[in-house]
Amino acid sequence: MSGPGVYWMGEEERQEVLDVLSSGYLFRYGKEGHRGFKAKAYTLEQEYARYSGVDYCIAVSSGTASLVLALQAMGIGPGDEVIVPAYTFIAGYTSMIHVGAMPVLAEIDESLTLDPDDIEHRITANTKAILPVHMLGNQCDMDAIMEIAKRHGLQVIEDSCQANGASYHGDKIGTRGAMGCFSLNCFKTISCGDGGLLITNDVDLYERAFAFHDQGHRPNRAGVEVGNRQVLGLNFRITELTSAVALAQLRKLDKIVGTLRAKKKRFRDAIGDIRGMAYRTIHDPDGECATLLTVIFDNYSVAKSVAEKLGTTTIDRSGWHVYSNMEHVMNFMAAQGCPCRKGAYPRTDDILSRAINLSVGVVDAGIGAAFGININSTDDEIDQTGEEFRAVCQECTDTQRSFATV
Ligand SMILES: Cc1ncc(COP(=O)(O)O)c(C=O)c1O
Repeated sequence: MSGPGVYWMGEEERQEVLDVLSSGYLFRYGKEGHRGFKAKAYTLEQEYARYSGVDYCIAVSSGTASLVLALQAMGIGPGDEVIVPAYTFIAGYTSMIHVGAMPVLAEIDESLTLDPDDIEHRITANTKAILPVHMLGNQCDMDAIMEIAKRHGLQVIEDSCQANGASYHGDKIGTRGAMGCFSLNCFKTISCGDGGLLITNDVDLYERAFAFHDQGHRPNRAGVEVGNRQVLGLNFRITELTSAVALAQLRKLDKIVGTLRAKKKRFRDAIGDIRGMAYRTIHDPDGECATLLTVIFDNYSVAKSVAEKLGTTTIDRSGWHVYSNMEHVMNFMAAQGCPCRKGAYPRTDDILSRAINLSVGVVDAGIGAAFGININSTDDEIDQTGEEFRAVCQECTDTQRSFATV
């Protein structure tokens, strides 16, 4: 089970890694012209900045690190609040908690991303930022979110960890907000096992984030600089080995996303229209990542029995991304006087209890996508899987109707 990049890992990644290994130089910094130094991390940053059309990129050790660094670069800390959807990966909450800020959860809508209509009434004098999450490979309603942020003077950090390769009305994902955060773990569009990317057009944010990620140093240091460090940083550096893999994967990203879009279209056509079921809202269908196909049933018990028959779960029961399944986060928030148990976000609970993720490129039971296709599925396999899904829906709907008429 993994993301599409892992399915396509091959000779290109091997060559990049061997290039580093044979040099024997694995640290991300080196002297220009030094025989062993291959500058893979630096090249990854340059190529990803160009890919996204931004001025700066920092390659880091994980997507979680990129979130922490973005918050730190913006000076978000104790006493501050950040608005974040109730459906996201746990790192969205824990990154805030670790810098001392408080996550303020908000509802999602049928796009399964932050509902812009549920933001404003949660803004207080302590609110510093909004963290929209481009969940399951697709964009938030960034026009609406940016408009609210601008009106209230709030920063926006785009958690694009699940949406590498997506765009929003012509702009690469992660570029509308002040900073965009990406993960390169094994379930993402492209992967190097573990790693992350942080992008921005703001030189101050770039330099601060860079310093936090490397013990206070300025970007691309040569050796150890002493005497002018302003920031108490830590170590969230990436290595040359993982950068080498990420570089080879990045060069495949557009092809991966193009392939997923074509396969998702075929899968969706094979399923077609089903009474009592809708496809989730996609804010910019031309720019979607197409890693998952998410369906939402009108009826909770139909959704549950369809999921069970397919050997998967409705999203509310998937482990990692639903606020109410994160007992340690909920316990922490309760201890801070912000009780937040299942039922606190009824719209989110309702939508997720009726929704199923079908895999297209990300095959991951942890996100509730144990059934579906993958990036290497043939046309016949896609058609058959669509047919199987239709048949199960039909069976469960018929059963439901016969119960209703008894
Ligand atoms: C939405 C989202 N944010 C952040 C992360 C954290 O990324 P990482 O696992 O690379 O730390 C993930 C990873 O699953 C994610 O899905």
